[in-house]
Amino acid sequence: MNVILFGPPGAGKGTQAQLLAKRYGIVHLSTGDMLRQAVASGSALGQTVQKIMAAGTLVPDDIMIELIAERIDAPDCANGFVLDGFPRTTPQAEALDAMLAEKGMSLDHVIWIEIDDAILVDRISGRFNCAECGAGFHDSFHRPKVEGVCDGCGAREFSRRKDDNAETVKARLEAYHEQTAPLLPYYRSKSIVETVDGSTQISDVAGRIETILEGV
Ligand code: AP5
Repeated sequence: MNVILFGPPGAGKGTQAQLLAKRYGIVHLSTGDMLRQAVASGSALGQTVQKIMAAGTLVPDDIMIELIAERIDAPDCANGFVLDGFPRTTPQAEALDAMLAEKGMSLDHVIWIEIDDAILVDRISGRFNCAECGAGFHDSFHRPKVEGVCDGCGAREFSRRKDDNAETVKARLEAYHEQTAPLLPYYRSKSIVETVDGSTQISDVAGRIETILEGV
């Protein structure tokens, strides 16, 4: 099963992608995580994208397309994947179609997590992740079951993203509305878009997505 989770920053794409990967045994492909790893490692790619990400604008299409083409080629993707953060522009969507067609693969679902911008700033400013396994949490909406201990791996170190500040969030929302939201008609014309209300609880959003994926 090959799925795209689509929506603005803070909509819950990463949260839901982690749940889907676990439930269906498919690979979670987060381009944001891949780029953050490159920045942390100090690689040439990381040095190129660091300032772009800090500003909340989009990394150039050629870089992103190469990154995802390499990743989708890996054997673990043969069983299915959930894309989180890619594609974000029309050239990225067209390139994805072409690379999947070349491998005899296709997209099964594009899930649009619909949510009002007003909710997103709160979501993003409260977010933190396990420094060990990357599991996502929130100060108010999704705290670890045991305070200070990751539910996923038991680690006690957490981190917050550098681009989760009010100024950068504004730029990320602008980039979403100007460059990513226009992808909706692209996928609607292929009749594979389903809309989910992202303002409900994490478990409700997950239940709605499962209903769609299982065709119930
Ligand atoms: P990326 O890492 O993809 O960030 P984003 O799209 O801005 O999305 P977020 O990760 O902020 O939000 P999310 O939807 O995953 O929400 P989450 O589940 O964490 O990209 C970062 C940067 O990399 C970009 O700005 C760009 O520079 C670059 N980049 C990446 N991909 C690119 C591409 N393809 N092309 C060009 N540039 C690219 O949830 C947020 C918080 O809310 C969490 O704390 C969570 O616990 C909580 N939460 C989630 N769901 C709910 C709910 N239903 N109710 C209450 N709380 C909830």
